[in-house]
Amino acid sequence: MTVHSDQPYNAEPPPSALAGSDLTPTDAFYCRNHGPVPDLDPGSWRLRVDGRVATPLTLSLDDLRGRLPEATETATLQCAGNRRAGLTAVRDIPGEAPWGPAATATATWTGVRLTDVLDAAGLADGATDVEFVGADVSDAADPPQEFGGSVPLRKARMPEVLLAWAMNDEPLSPVHGAPLRVVVPGYIGARSVKWLQRIEVRDRPSANFFQASTYRLLPPDAPVTATPGEGVELGLVAVNSDFLRPDDGSSHPAGPVTVAGYAFAGGDRTVVRVDVSSDGGATWAQADLGTQASPWAWRHWSATVDVPRGTTEVLARAWDSSAALQPERPEQVWNPKGYVNNSWARLRLRGV
Ligand code: MTE
Repeated sequence: MTVHSDQPYNAEPPPSALAGSDLTPTDAFYCRNHGPVPDLDPGSWRLRVDGRVATPLTLSLDDLRGRLPEATETATLQCAGNRRAGLTAVRDIPGEAPWGPAATATATWTGVRLTDVLDAAGLADGATDVEFVGADVSDAADPPQEFGGSVPLRKARMPEVLLAWAMNDEPLSPVHGAPLRVVVPGYIGARSVKWLQRIEVRDRPSANFFQASTYRLLPPDAPVTATPGEGVELGLVAVNSDFLRPDDGSSHPAGPVTVAGYAFAGGDRTVVRVDVSSDGGATWAQADLGTQASPWAWRHWSATVDVPRGTTEVLARAWDSSAALQPERPEQVWNPKGYVNNSWARLRLRGV
């Protein structure tokens, strides 16, 4: 893993560790934390469900497992800061880690459906948003507070949104949110709140620092410290892709070289096409698309390109089912916090 910071622990694997399999082994799954990993005892842990509900609930893990049907989904998580390094190369982004293309990964998640928990509590009048609050207190927030965020009620009611206790058929590890985390497929990773301790049904979006003041797209000339509510709240993941193999800057005998990567689109959009170019975008060939493990998962792709002697830059760009295409250059999407770099993927190869 490339460790961006030890405290809080933030790390991503080499891109090649994500290739080869639709499902990411848990030890190659990126870790994104805003505070210390809390040490929660699963026996005494409780989940509080309150706010605009008919009956506030306090639930143990046994309550969740025993009272509600178990559900499993395969879903990709992608951090809004994925590929930030490409933006940092355009202009410095102080205080934010230069994540590469591996702040994204796919796992099978098992738990209960959030909508079943909401049904058990019953919704009261005025419910529009569902907020999740974790047990970790982040000093990066102003003022320091537990990590949290919300999704609109209509998303919270969708069957793919889980409260998960298992990842890839193993109990969740502490760093990935044990004993229980939210998994919101199609949304930025920040909404998949780990170490879940409270669900509040609200009549407006979360006022948590990590929703009201960060994870927002600010215009390029805005000050880094946003006032709450400034800029565009990030939610659905924009279409994106990058290379996983071979390594950037690697040497190959001149001739055909197979390149491979991932592409992902959030919301209920899917990746429908990936193009690859080795002549600066003058011409494009369509990559072979792999299968999609679920409607909420990325697609792996591969293509063979001709690499002459010297250095060649190979480009890749994905299209989604709404006909959205990745923008060409990082300069076009640069923003002060360095989110959503979905500009074309670029890979330098040396033909020898
Ligand atoms: N939940 C809590 N409680 N604290 C956090 O710092 N980070 C979020 C989200 N959930 C975070 C959290 C972000 S920004 C991402 S991208 C995902 O968790 C990352 O999940 P992972 O570390 O399991 O890969």
